[in-house]
Amino acid sequence: MHADHDHDITALAIGRWASAHDARLSTIMQALIRHLHGFAREVALTEPEWTAAMAWLARTGQISDARRAEFILASDVLGLSMLVVEMNHPRGGGATPATVLGPFYIADSPLMDYGADMAAPVPGIPLVIAGTIRDPAGAPLAGAILDVWQADSHGMYESQVNSPTARLRGRYTSRNDGSYCVRTVAPLGYSIPMDGPVGQLLSRTDISPHRPAHVHFAIAATDHEPLVTHLFEEGAPYLDSDVVFGTRAELVVPFDRRAPGPTPDGRRCDVPWLLAQYDFVLSPKEVTSR
Ligand code: BEZ
Ligand code: FE
Repeated sequence: MHADHDHDITALAIGRWASAHDARLSTIMQALIRHLHGFAREVALTEPEWTAAMAWLARTGQISDARRAEFILASDVLGLSMLVVEMNHPRGGGATPATVLGPFYIADSPLMDYGADMAAPVPGIPLVIAGTIRDPAGAPLAGAILDVWQADSHGMYESQVNSPTARLRGRYTSRNDGSYCVRTVAPLGYSIPMDGPVGQLLSRTDISPHRPAHVHFAIAATDHEPLVTHLFEEGAPYLDSDVVFGTRAELVVPFDRRAPGPTPDGRRCDVPWLLAQYDFVLSPKEVTSR
């Protein structure tokens, strides 16, 4: 049968994708077609614009590999990644807000003792991050794993400097009273990678490509919802213009200057250092009874 779909191509396409074998896939594809067609109509998309968009998508795929996630970066700068985080981790209940994972997470970081230095031998101003992991009622969570990673004092991550060994990342375990203590060096804010299709697109705008200085945490505790978040340095540049929309007021903490002397883990620091104190709160897992 020959369909005259000039005037009804949207309905025709939506109808065709209703045949997806999985109900959720059908819902997603039908909504995607409805919004894509609506978008093309709204901006009266021209053929050269469509061709340019296809070429941009192709370049985004071509530059991506195990170390570079350019599509995720595109999602980040469009605010989509943070929207998905917010929808899936609604506020309320007293838990620490979640934020984006970002492309620089590397699994299986070295296990670190309480207060151990995950930066050595990378130079920088010593930074100690200490506090507790607890539930919304204040009960300490013992044995929680804090997977921590960050950029160095030039804003570079391990995968960007091709380090042969783990660099500025480690997995700490909370103690029986829920306390944790991370020793590292102060991170610097950085620009997202600008040498690919996402950077090319951003450079045609006045959007700042920078992220404010931060340390990443992925925290897991038995029977609690996992938490992926950051701590941002109070007063750091770009807190109000984070290119990936990841900043949350509750996650901004002072990096207090301290004179040489004892650190919270009972060790010493012989040069001036910074202290950030933060208590992470994880929600109990919802029990689904059937
Ligand atoms: C990050 O914080 O590591 C990051 C997040 C999104 C895009 C680029 C970097
Ligand atoms: Fe980061």
